Amino acid sequence: MTTEEKPEPGNAFDWIGGEARVQELVTRFYDLMDLEPAYKELRAAHGSDLTSAREKLFWFLCGWLGGPNHYIERFGHPRLRARHLPFKIGILERDQWLACMDQAMGEVGIDETLRARLRESFFGTADWMRNTPS
Ligand code: HEM
Repeated sequence: MTTEEKPEPGNAFDWIGGEARVQELVTRFYDLMDLEPAYKELRAAHGSDLTSAREKLFWFLCGWLGGPNHYIERFGHPRLRARHLPFKIGILERDQWLACMDQAMGEVGIDETLRARLRESFFGTADWMRNTPS
């Protein structure tokens, strides 16, 4: 490592900057879902009120990134694929979710190295959740 390179923090949760930054990311993600015509099918899959989705994604991401297990403490194992079975998830919905999250990561200024790694991990999870042939 050269002197200019900073060592990477221990896990993604610390790297992102803790709960306040995860909250910022989730807030921007759902604001964009509400605002951007490019995500309209994804938005339409959600109910009119995004409050519960905002809370749950925040709790989930804290643990998924290596921070506190807020989601598991409240709901047990995430079983994300099973919990998403009531919603149609094809390529279109998967790609809108990923694009919306990537835009949110960019706008809140997530470190670019971390953003690239999270983009890959989100892809794996979102693709595994597909439950509808497109
Ligand atoms: C990596 C990708 C994704 C992650 C990490 C994720 C995460 C979550 C989490 C943690 C919840 C709360 C689950 C619960 O306790 O009920 C949730 C709910 C939901 N997700 Fe996802 N999700 C992803 C992709 C998608 C996609 C592609 C769709 C497209 C339809 C979608 C639609 C929904 C809907 C409609 C809800 C219910 C929201 C509510 O409670 O009002 N998700 N998601």
